[in-house]
Amino acid sequence: MPFRRTYLRFKSLLPESVRDVLSGINQRLFARGTLLRKYGSWFDVEWRKRYQSLSEDEWKQAYNEAWKHRTNDCVEETDAKLILGALGPKGSVLEVGAGIGTLAIRLAKEGFDVTGVDVSSEALRRAQERAEHENVTVQWREGFAEALPFADKSFDYVTCCHTLEHVKDLARATAELKRVARRKVVVLTPKQKYRLYAENYHTQFFEHPHQLSNAFGLTSSECTEIDCFDHKNEFQGKALLYVGHLE
Ligand SMILES: C[S@@+](CC[C@H](N)C(=O)[O-])C[C@H]1O[C@@H](n2cnc3c(N)ncnc32)[C@H](O)[C@@H]1O
Repeated sequence: MPFRRTYLRFKSLLPESVRDVLSGINQRLFARGTLLRKYGSWFDVEWRKRYQSLSEDEWKQAYNEAWKHRTNDCVEETDAKLILGALGPKGSVLEVGAGIGTLAIRLAKEGFDVTGVDVSSEALRRAQERAEHENVTVQWREGFAEALPFADKSFDYVTCCHTLEHVKDLARATAELKRVARRKVVVLTPKQKYRLYAENYHTQFFEHPHQLSNAFGLTSSECTEIDCFDHKNEFQGKALLYVGHLE
């Protein structure tokens, strides 16, 4: 893990053209085989070629399987602090793509009234266990970001961390996040270029802050680059933090 972090940071210091060449060679020659060897049969190496044709049930199954093999969320304390700083006074929050509940539980501990939604019943089962263990109340709901099971303006804030890059339909998902929020939408995504073969089920790629801002199309918003190379959880690298204002 420390080696991986050092390697990622070193790579990020190389000129972009050199990184692109290294990545191109890796993609063509090694990446697919590395993933097959590393993950075995549960991981869908061809996800990016197939995701558009998957049904909702197949989508849920894939993420349930992933959550049987994954140990942690991507979001962690440094992100939670930034997100808390971006939210306003205490109120209700919908955490979309809640995973095993790290951010939802953290926000609930701060006094927010939190609902977590995710496609994976396996993730929500683990999230619920963690919340009970930590004596925190969070409402958990199964659902897709593209069709949130809530009325318009149901929540003061909507957060969505390391999930927007996973959705099948970006336009529907961003419209839904805005529809159910009254005050702000706060989104965290990796800052990355498209790769056909990688250790994740990403479908959307945000290389520059304006791509994330444009996806929401709100007149008042900020999008900043943040450094997550020293994270201990699942994600290390650069990320984008987007805050969109609805009022
Ligand atoms: C990388 S995890 C992020 C979990 C957590 N928010 C974090 O920061 O680590 C992506 C999550 O999105 C969920 N997911 C995938 N597709 C989704 C969709 N279309 N709508 C809602 N959640 C989705 C997955 O089950 C998974 O829990």
